[in-house]
Amino acid sequence: MNKKYPLVNDLKKKAKKRIPKFAFEYLEGGCNEEINLTKNKSDLNKIQLNPHYIKKFSGYSLSTKIFDIKYNSPFGIAPIGLQGLIWPNSPIILAKAANKFNIPYVLSTVSTASIEEISEVSDGKAWFQLYYPAEEKIRIDILERAKNSGIKVLVLLCDVPSFGYRGNDIKNGLSMPPKMNINNFIQIIKNPTWAFNTLYFGKPNFATLKPYMPKNLNLGQLGRFMDQTFSGRLNYDRIAKIRDIWKDKLVIKGIVNELDTETSIKLGLDGIIISNHGGRQLDPGLSSIDALRKIYPKFKNKITIMMDSGIKSGPDIARSIACGAQFTFLGRSFMYGVGALGKSGGDHTIEILNTQLNQIMEQLSCENILDLKNHLIN
Ligand SMILES: Cc1cc2nc3c(=O)[nH]c(=O)nc-3n(C[C@H](O)[C@H](O)[C@H](O)COP(=O)(O)O)c2cc1C
Repeated sequence: MNKKYPLVNDLKKKAKKRIPKFAFEYLEGGCNEEINLTKNKSDLNKIQLNPHYIKKFSGYSLSTKIFDIKYNSPFGIAPIGLQGLIWPNSPIILAKAANKFNIPYVLSTVSTASIEEISEVSDGKAWFQLYYPAEEKIRIDILERAKNSGIKVLVLLCDVPSFGYRGNDIKNGLSMPPKMNINNFIQIIKNPTWAFNTLYFGKPNFATLKPYMPKNLNLGQLGRFMDQTFSGRLNYDRIAKIRDIWKDKLVIKGIVNELDTETSIKLGLDGIIISNHGGRQLDPGLSSIDALRKIYPKFKNKITIMMDSGIKSGPDIARSIACGAQFTFLGRSFMYGVGALGKSGGDHTIEILNTQLNQIMEQLSCENILDLKNHLIN
């Protein structure tokens, strides 16, 4: 493990120096006044765990099963749109790291590597996050491609009925439709490693969507294409249509309350990811950990419950699992890793989280990851 960067926060500081400002702000930002973003972490910090020092302890394991798939650790890599803009080739770097450490990598519909490329480097073990395609032909084709690529878990996103209002992205011209301005070009020139890598790996584009996009769109036309082709607004009918076609595991991401959990169960979904999109969509919303604490007691045996938003460390993963999550995801933390260390950034971030979690398990005398619940101080 690289001893210069023992914490995710060390990676963040280093990444900030190597990524152009507009791209770092796109990664980092929450919506509006960033209250929800801040609360995700501060509410997580309030969760306390109780050790049990004097007892028989026969070792511990971080491994866990989700949908009958065994993973080495109870966390995965959350879907991030425009990943290659933040760090060139990052989807491939992260998907390879996930495969090596046997954790799931979730590819976003609007990431910069295609389903097929990711499937190849992850031996078909990646998950795929779908924005709802309004056009039937595209919907059927994308699901067919996902199936042919060996994807077993499809993640339907429900928390982007409108784009979050993010001040820095608006100033930087990264709102929809996106535009590039002179300041952004100056920032690119100031970050040579990022710039050379971008030249080497090519201008980032929406690789999975390429077959559906008319050629040579300018950025304004691209925005309109995205608006017309995809709808972030889900309803009963739309979810039922996907459920009809997709026979493997179907998960909905962005759930924050009991009402939508109830609907997900009625629609026959296999799992929910409790998430507020890392504080990027609804500033007056609940923190993700508080949403989990409300949902878990009522629905614990009815559907698989996972969580993301605000998790930055092994202790945060332990806190989330202690509150009822069966599995967790991290978004920004992995991008900090790649931004800081390039090719080895995915491996290093996973190693940090595993090492921190190992220590917590030993410290608490907790043998199985899901037994962390027994250590929660209410
Ligand atoms: C820059 C950025 C882009 C994102 N793009 C997507 C996306 O395309 N699809 C999606 O389901 N979630 C997306 N998310 C949300 C993440 O999947 C995840 O919910 C969030 O990052 C978790 O919070 P954390 O960053 O505090 O770990 C994005 C998040 C960030 C920071």
